[in-house]
Amino acid sequence: SWTMVNIAEESIEAVRAQVGGKRAICALSGGVDSAVAGALVQRAIGSRLTCVFVDHGLLRKGEAEQVEKDFVAATGVDLKVVDAADRFLGALDGVTDPETKRKIIGREFIRVFEEAAREIVEEHGEAVEFLVQGTLYPDVVESGGGTGAANIKSHHNVGGLPEDLQFSLVEPLRTLFKDEVRRLGEELGLPAEIVWRQPFPGPGLGIRIIGAVTRDRLDVLREADAIAREELTRAGLDRDIWQFPVVLLADVRSVGVQGDGRTYGHPVVLRPVTSEDAMTADWARLPYDVLQKISTRITNEVAEVNRVVVDITSKPPGTIEWE
Ligand code: XMP
Repeated sequence: SWTMVNIAEESIEAVRAQVGGKRAICALSGGVDSAVAGALVQRAIGSRLTCVFVDHGLLRKGEAEQVEKDFVAATGVDLKVVDAADRFLGALDGVTDPETKRKIIGREFIRVFEEAAREIVEEHGEAVEFLVQGTLYPDVVESGGGTGAANIKSHHNVGGLPEDLQFSLVEPLRTLFKDEVRRLGEELGLPAEIVWRQPFPGPGLGIRIIGAVTRDRLDVLREADAIAREELTRAGLDRDIWQFPVVLLADVRSVGVQGDGRTYGHPVVLRPVTSEDAMTADWARLPYDVLQKISTRITNEVAEVNRVVVDITSKPPGTIEWE
């Protein structure tokens, strides 16, 4: 629309004025905010921006490819991909406590990001002065409006970067709401899968496996989750549902009959919710035929899962995520 074109042009000009001839980096998470912020800054300063995508191995099916292929194709961004799955899984080995998982994932993220930033400085033989962040207006209000030293959004849990990696922040989305960011993303030509992606927690599938996180469990959950998302999309309900966590109860086993015999597998929980802002939420009344389809497909296609249950708890008292 006309206003979005204006917002885009004005933001691009503002970024140019702020960054001048210096270099910037941006951490992509796979989500819409960092993608739109990165795309916008790319338009402003081109290859003086390097985006960093830390693949922690906890994303959903197809999401890493969306960033590495579709986003790059749509924007021409200079992207540095760090495949850090082994490192994250190693650090998470045997950990079951939700907050400990978050701390470990946050800590590893900072370390990997730091290493990548140092490499970028070396590769270009030039300091990086700016860090791009997809901070939105509601984030600004929530945090009291302050800005300052690098303080990556809480979902990356980056508290303090070391002194030689202190950046000035570029926050081109600071005055925008989510729906405006989505429209801006469309204006910038980003793929619909990224622009319309539902909110997804930084620690990813790591907090949707109840129990220790392993590669095998991630594979199981990734398949079940992909089926649920596919059927939701097929039913045309994507934009009615705020979030749709699929949770693997990895430490619970249930008996089933699948094929020729009894199985001793795992349940998954479907947690579709409606919400305005994630502060409160209601369990989504998905049509029975959609639930049926999801249940049948998951138990047919994911051998380790023999039971599908639906979470009918509102928030409060139940949080959206299980961990
Ligand atoms: P809960 O589960 O507390 O979640 O109702 C509220 C919203 O926050 C998301 N969430 C997180 N996002 N890092 C994030 O970036 C996290 O550690 C985290 N935990 C929960 C959740 O998906 C929901 O949108």
